[in-house]
Amino acid sequence: MNSEEAKARINSLVKSLNHHNYLYYQQAQPTISDYEFDQLLAELQLLETQWPEFVQPDSPTIRVGGEVTRSFQTVVHDFPFMSLANSYSREDLEEFDQRIRKSINQSFSYVCELKFDGVAIGLKYENGFLVKAVTRGDGVQGDDVTANIKTIRSIPLKLQGEDYPEKFEIRGEIFMPLKSFESINKARRAELEDLGYDEEQIAEKLFKNPRNAAAGSIKMQESSEVAKRKLDCYMYALLSENHQSESHYDNLKQASDWGFQVSNYSKQCSNLEEVYAFIDKWDVERDNLPFEIDGIVVKVNEYNVQKVLGSTAKSPRWAIAYKFKARQAKTTLDKITYQVGRTGSITPVANLRPVFLAGTTVKRASLHNADFIAEMDIRESDLVYVEKGGEIIPKVVAVDASTRGLFSQPHQYITHCPECGAELIRKEGEANHYCPNDAHCPPQITGRIAHFVSRKAMDINSLGEKTIELFVQDGLVNNVADLYDLQYDQIIQLEGFKEQSTRNILEGIEASKQIPFERVLFAIGIRYVGETVAKKLALHFRNLDAIGAADINSLLEAEEIGEIIAKSVQDFFKSNDNLVLLNRLKSAGLQLHLDENAYKPKSNILEGKSFVVSGVFSLFSRDELKKKIEENGGKVLSGVSASTSYLVAGEKMGPEKKKKAEKLNVDVISEQDFIDMIS
Ligand code: IVH
Repeated sequence: MNSEEAKARINSLVKSLNHHNYLYYQQAQPTISDYEFDQLLAELQLLETQWPEFVQPDSPTIRVGGEVTRSFQTVVHDFPFMSLANSYSREDLEEFDQRIRKSINQSFSYVCELKFDGVAIGLKYENGFLVKAVTRGDGVQGDDVTANIKTIRSIPLKLQGEDYPEKFEIRGEIFMPLKSFESINKARRAELEDLGYDEEQIAEKLFKNPRNAAAGSIKMQESSEVAKRKLDCYMYALLSENHQSESHYDNLKQASDWGFQVSNYSKQCSNLEEVYAFIDKWDVERDNLPFEIDGIVVKVNEYNVQKVLGSTAKSPRWAIAYKFKARQAKTTLDKITYQVGRTGSITPVANLRPVFLAGTTVKRASLHNADFIAEMDIRESDLVYVEKGGEIIPKVVAVDASTRGLFSQPHQYITHCPECGAELIRKEGEANHYCPNDAHCPPQITGRIAHFVSRKAMDINSLGEKTIELFVQDGLVNNVADLYDLQYDQIIQLEGFKEQSTRNILEGIEASKQIPFERVLFAIGIRYVGETVAKKLALHFRNLDAIGAADINSLLEAEEIGEIIAKSVQDFFKSNDNLVLLNRLKSAGLQLHLDENAYKPKSNILEGKSFVVSGVFSLFSRDELKKKIEENGGKVLSGVSASTSYLVAGEKMGPEKKKKAEKLNVDVISEQDFIDMIS
């Protein structure tokens, strides 16, 4: 393909993919499959890397993200970002209506809209192209989050048609659809459970509701991460010096023709009765929406009336929000049961008499820990109130003690493990009880093995959870090292196993011996050592023995390793059982040191030069920089000496190092100087 052909193909792919995006998001009428779309996108991505000079400003590949922002620029809004006055009853709305009628003596109408529960955004367009996306901030100025916002597929990068103003701003709400929210939290929960976090810690780390999730997502540093969050957006206000139409409703309709996603659920209402009907309808129907709303917004439709009414310092007088009440249900708590997690952590669960609440039947709710039950004095057979306030998992918010029987007693928290009978312990400072019998408690054994074989760890996908349970039950395996001793004859004699499935299992186990060290380190399941921490430890210490031998201070020197993780690593290596296990894994042939081949110099640009890296950097992490030095033939030193060639200085670098470098005449260079050096 020559450059002319590449340019033409890139242009045609951009046009066609943007059109398909429009059909999919704005019209909800796709004409090609997701697979076909992805194929075209992949072709475009490849061409753009080969011919970067032809990348279009509205290329759909921008949605994949890739820009890294360390801090967001502050942007002063052209129009203040107002908020809405709230109302909670028909009386409040009547008052709002009366106030308007007192100052206006012409006829007017209302527009009722859903009040999307997310974060407000202002999008600026110039000549049909998205140029800036700014958060609400304090109403006067906000953050420039353009790179992140461009990953949201329902926001047009380039407008359709031609009749849009040359320059204008449109505002709307970014939100996280319930499906994305649930799957992100589910994945996050599984990861945290794997790492040994207890229910309390998990609850703290999960997104509380879709609104928090959306707000957190648009402030992320890496737009490629934002792209994974699957955010969406509805536009609800067009701001420009001269409006296209005379009413808000018509203007938004036009905006939808330009390619913006505008809610279909909005309705023009000519009086309060119609407004009430809209509210009543959505108070029920909101349970069936694929996203959260927290109320209804009532707006005067005609711009000339809006203008006369004006605004207070904070909010317009021509609009008001009607807020829905949190959904509650009352039901009987039949029984309190207990779950044992992979690390032995105990979670009490309320088994409820099924009750319908906000679109789903609720049967269970988490009771967190013993303190929560004691503080609320929750007892079996009690009538309890459960609430879903933005959160997906319902919570018990109150107990109705008035109907308790005479003989009702406070709930006695279990003292022994419901799975293995061991006496439970509670560590100081932790809210959860634990089963300490990690060597023999069945869910703990299977949990550890399931983590070990999981995709991001040893990736032995021929071993499913059911098979592991069976192996444990039959006494074939008790720990992860036993997997490497499994024999063909032992497996084939089990019910349901044929020659092929047995071979698959053994081959999967054999292949896992090639899994790189950083993943083995993640797989062995040291508490709090997740995928990223395992990578940092592997990069810093290079082999398992060095990690095991490291004292607390040396562990803390590794990037992103804090005291809790350092202590957990030390505890792991203090256990004799663990040391025996690691020795067996070593004999089995697992990779317990970094693949030095992967770190062999790719170039010799830095040969003979030595570097000290200090401080915080904006483009790379410290360990990444060190890796780059070694990849290019340089040497990394830990302290500045006369033999140091360069000190790569980041922000917050220790002043002592700098002083020493200056004294010894060592060149102090910036991150950018270093990048220039190697590129
Ligand atoms: S209009 C000047 N319409 O609710 C009027 N706001 O305090 C500006 N919101 O965070 C707001 N859905 O982002 C309007 N259909 C809707 C809305 C909406 C959600 C948010 C808005 C702001 C809050 C109002």
